[in-house]
Amino acid sequence: MKALRFPQAWLDELRERSDIVQVVSRYVHLTQKGGRYWGLCPFHGEKTASFSVNPQRQMYYCFGCHAGGSAISFVMEMEHLDFKDAVKLLAEQAHMALPEMTGEREDAAGRSEKERLLEANKQCARFFHSQLWKQENAHVLAYLYERGLDDSIIRVFGLGSTPPRSDGATLAMRELGFTDEELVQAGISVRRDGRVYDMFRQRAIFPIIDAHGRVLGFGGRALGDAKPKYLNTGDTPVFNKRLGVFAANLLRKQRGLKRVILVEGYMDVIALTQAGVPGVCATLGTALTIEQARMLKRYAPEIWVSYDGDAAGQRAILRALDIFDEEGVKARVLDFPGGMDPDEYIRAYGAQAMDTLTPMDATSYRMKQEAQAHDLSTQEGRTAYAIACARYLAKVKEPVELDNYVNQLMISTGFTRDVLLAQIGRTELISREQRATYRYAARPLEEKADGVDTETDAAERQLLLLLAERRIEPGTVTAQDFITPRHRALAEKLIAGMTPGAILDEIEDEQERARTAALLQKDSGAGEDELLRMAGDCLRILHKKRIEAQIASLQEALAQQKGEDRRRTLLKIQELTKERQTAGRKE
Ligand code: UTP
Ligand code: MN
Repeated sequence: MKALRFPQAWLDELRERSDIVQVVSRYVHLTQKGGRYWGLCPFHGEKTASFSVNPQRQMYYCFGCHAGGSAISFVMEMEHLDFKDAVKLLAEQAHMALPEMTGEREDAAGRSEKERLLEANKQCARFFHSQLWKQENAHVLAYLYERGLDDSIIRVFGLGSTPPRSDGATLAMRELGFTDEELVQAGISVRRDGRVYDMFRQRAIFPIIDAHGRVLGFGGRALGDAKPKYLNTGDTPVFNKRLGVFAANLLRKQRGLKRVILVEGYMDVIALTQAGVPGVCATLGTALTIEQARMLKRYAPEIWVSYDGDAAGQRAILRALDIFDEEGVKARVLDFPGGMDPDEYIRAYGAQAMDTLTPMDATSYRMKQEAQAHDLSTQEGRTAYAIACARYLAKVKEPVELDNYVNQLMISTGFTRDVLLAQIGRTELISREQRATYRYAARPLEEKADGVDTETDAAERQLLLLLAERRIEPGTVTAQDFITPRHRALAEKLIAGMTPGAILDEIEDEQERARTAALLQKDSGAGEDELLRMAGDCLRILHKKRIEAQIASLQEALAQQKGEDRRRTLLKIQELTKERQTAGRKE
């Protein structure tokens, strides 16, 4: 099933833009429950839903018939297509140009053109960064220092400076072998009156880097009050600001994020990151798009929207909340007091002040905004306010949550509980909820690799699930910790950042794919506070197992040994036996 024909980067992009919940929803009615979506399995007849879709892992799995795979394999099954044609179909639905639509030859050319532009961007980012440390650009570095940045955060984000000459970057890039045509295409240079010079002049440079570490474009901040304040790379063959987010590269590296914080500006991301706040990113000077929402929900179960406190910011928050709703993402709003942006807030009150802010859930935020939009001192205003809030509250599923909001609304509007519940339409909602109760029979596929003992198998599986859930820090677990080759190979891919869905796409053998899907679809069941202990337990077991394997092979060797050799082996066994005892124990 492995796709040798499509460029990897292109396939990655397709995967990012073809969310599995969306794809499956075209064929199966899905209902969200917990972190998953459930529906009737399209691959075998059934009356109760045992077909599950996990958006975080980008895979589906049926507890009834054990079918499992990615968005691509789902389309293959449903439409009876081969890998290539399923990819084509998905690309069409995602409005992505196909690499081979223009014929194999041009296709290769188009691909290498993109790669060329990405290479130009990368070299240019290096160039800008190196300029920052030059004496003649000291004022740019001073500007960044003055904004509170230190050298280390400057390096983390690869910030840079334009050179003094207005064609300095163009010249440097020509020297590296790029043509003017390429530089203009990449948005690094502009052509005017027959001359080619730099797109960015007299600016501090913020490279925009995607999750795969590719430099897609740049933002350039004016050093003073020059307009525009930020100049950004326009749409190029490799950059579309509606799709990317700033700091996507850092997001991808941070595992186990509880939430992503979405802010408005480059400087907000950098200031919060410098203050030690994980998981911060920004849209690139545009309103949030569906594509960005879809991408962000991969990184954490919740998104906190933290736009500027001005009127435009407030409107943008409401729009973003709607988009997250549409994508089924849990969103909250983190409001900074006094209309400050996050950067200003941190500068004014320090990093610790972040801990004093609590995010508001989306419904409360919307109610608060509605309260400001109506005159609650008049009956007319209170009625309009109640009607507006009821529309939001109709979406609140949990009765206990709803109860809180209804209480609030009773106080602020004076309507009785019954009237408000009728306005919300709760009766109907309750019966619908009951219908959607799932009674699927969970029949886990317990299969372990041949010749592996249960303890090793269980420990490795648990670690794989923690990796699949992206909940352990990079470096805590390495592929070398795994003993079973099959598990080790899976660990390698998960650690490299592949989703389980993408991993399944690479498995040719159907049987093996089903086994892997069964393995990777499970929940680790680890609570937040047990995570480290659980990972530690698994690692200890594997360490112990490795020692046992060593002892066993030494004992085998012992049978052939005599004299000094034999004595040494016995000693070694003794040592290992001792180590084994301590390894089995918890610290
Ligand atoms: P803001 O005007 O809020 O800027 O624009 P900021 O982030 O607070 O910038 P500083 O702190 O003054 O440096 C928010 C975001 O909108 C985009 C940029 O992405 C910016 O970070 N923007 C703004 C532009 O693309 N162009 C502009 O001229 C202004
Ligand atoms: Mn700002």
